[in-house]
Formats: sequence, structure tokens, C-alpha cells
Amino acid sequence: MKYKIAVIMGDGIGPEIVKGGLDVLDRVGTVFGHTFSYDFVDAGGVSIDKNGVPLTDEALRICQQADSVLLGAVGGPKWDTLPGHLRPERALLGLRKGLGLYANIRPAKIHKEFKAASPLRSEIIDKGFDMVMVRELTGGIYFGERGRRSTSNGEEAYDTETYSEMEIERIARTAFEVAMKRSKKVASIDKANVLESSRLWREVVHKIAKEYPEVIVTDVLVDNMAMQLVKNPSQFDVVVASNLFGDILSDEAAQIVGSIGLMPSASLGYDGKGMYEPIHGSAPDIAGKDVANPIATILSVAMMLRLSFNLEEEAIAIEQAVDKTLKKGYRTRDILDNDSEPISGSKMSSLIREAISK
Ligand code: IPM
Ligand code: MG
Repeated sequence: MKYKIAVIMGDGIGPEIVKGGLDVLDRVGTVFGHTFSYDFVDAGGVSIDKNGVPLTDEALRICQQADSVLLGAVGGPKWDTLPGHLRPERALLGLRKGLGLYANIRPAKIHKEFKAASPLRSEIIDKGFDMVMVRELTGGIYFGERGRRSTSNGEEAYDTETYSEMEIERIARTAFEVAMKRSKKVASIDKANVLESSRLWREVVHKIAKEYPEVIVTDVLVDNMAMQLVKNPSQFDVVVASNLFGDILSDEAAQIVGSIGLMPSASLGYDGKGMYEPIHGSAPDIAGKDVANPIATILSVAMMLRLSFNLEEEAIAIEQAVDKTLKKGYRTRDILDNDSEPISGSKMSSLIREAISK
């Protein structure tokens, strides 16, 4: 089969990790007989420098026409002082909205080899941790009405959390569908003791739950969730949350795993197309030094093959190649847990690439 992928390398370490991902993808193409073609698109800081805006209409159009999008990372100190609507991060929001990617899937799983990387005590983390965050991605306070106004107390700023039934229904369905393929447990996160938007969230989640009688739903208040995640993370399987709560809790989950350099993500819409990216940022401090870990991007490529192209065998081949390489003890600097010398990011990609087989 032929697949056309829009590739956004972005800023900082983006280009190096994406190159690692594409090397692996090319190898999958050779081994399994697929053709992957790439349309390179500028977004984020590079686009601000070239075009004066973080995302051009043309860039968005190319992404809309592709079968899926692979993204490295955007942002960096160079653009930090720009006004909100011109920051590199706007490119991400524009892509999510413009591609209709309302569901963000962030698996957080502790690998056997990396238990020591978790900051949690072993008696907690030894019980295991294998959670999928399903985060709403195109609504809520990220996209609600915002502004500034003058008041007798000086300037006032506001952002609004808005959720419609339709938006909650579709993300709840995504979570239940994911849960049906796992252990049929969903924790729904809200702040229904205070927020009206959360009360609607809770009502709608329970309405959709009736379509999935086998799934057990638990409501967890977001503040309690923050606590439970570090106290007893093994109790969670699928977690569904609003845009903002999901943003915060997915960073907490990544930290529990201890190695953000291993965490992939998928953002999906109705048509199966998606945008795939590591959950870490552009790490400008280590950019260009070939030390960045490409694994989160490589695992994002695996998610793309599985979720957008339905290539399960190929996705597993990538995941197994990553596991094999880690089992042999190879480590980039960020996940170094033994006395061995760290290998470079490009070495890690080429080892994984070579480990791909049918
Ligand atoms: C994420 C990031 C983004 C978000 C930022 C960079 C806009 O934190 O993908 O989690 O808040 O969604
Ligand atoms: Mg975040």
C-alpha cells in the first residue's frame, strides 16, 4: 500500500527525532512492502521565522490532504516573548482544530526495564502501571472565549471552559471503545463539585456508559486524581478527561513512568486520520547534539501504523524492535540506568531500524 504522510519536524530536537522515526518507517516499508511518501511542512518556530506565523493556511492544507501527520516538537526560548496568537504552540492548536483531532490518546506504561526510573517508591510502582489517557483535544478552556477587560481593580483576564453535549459524547465514546479493548474500566475526571461544565461532563459520560454495559465507570474529582495517581497508580486503566485536566494529568502520568522520552501519542478525528507526536517538547538545550531519545517518536510512528493505517503487524514489529534494543541494554542519556556508556540518538534509531523484521 501507499501512504502519504505530512511531516512536521518543527523546532529544537524535532528534526533529529523525526529523522529517526522516518528511518524506521522506511525500513518497515522495505520489509513489509509499503511505500511511505513524505510532504515536509513547516510549523512552529521555523514557520514564524520563515512566514511570520506559526502555521500557514498552506501548511494546514497539506496536512489535511495527507493520510496522517507526524510531528516532532515545536517551540523554544527564541519565540517565548511573542504575543499568544503568534507563539509556536499556536501551530499545535491550529493543527488540532483544523484537522478535527478531538481525541488525544496518551498511553503511559512502565516498562519492566525502567522501574528504577520512576520517582515512586518500589512498593507502589511494583504493582505496575499501564494507563491510557484519553484527553479531549479541541474544546474546553483551550478554545473557549478569552480576553481582557478593564475593571475598577485594574485589568482583568478571562478564559472560559465550555463543553457541549456533542463534544463530551464523542470523547466518552472514544474512551469506552479503548476500554473495550483493554480491561473495561474507565475513570472519568471532572470537578463536578464546583464546575457546571463538569456536571454536564459527568451526566453525558454516564449516558454514553449505558451503551457499554460491560465497562465500569468511576468518577474521580481531578484534585483527588492528582493524589491517587501517585498514591496508587495501578488502579487506573483508561482515563478520560477534558482538554486542560488531561494536559496536566498526562504530564503527571509521564513522570510516574519516569522517562518522558519514551512516551508516544496519537490525536484522532472522525475519519481515522491522525497526528502522531512524542509527548515531550522541543528540548532546545540539547538540540543538535544528537543525544535526544528518538524512541517516543518511533513509538508514535507505530501508533500511526496501527490506528490510522490498520497495520497491526507492522506496528508490533516496531514495538518489538524497540523492546529488543532496550533489552540489550542500549540507552540514550536520558534513560541511562546502568553503568554503560550512553549511545547517541541516531545510534538508537539505527539499532531499532536494524531490529525490524517480519
Ligand atoms: C501538550 C502540550 C500542549 C498542550 C502545549 C504545547 C500547547 O502541553 O500537548 O500536552 O497544552 O496541549
Ligand atoms: Mg502538556
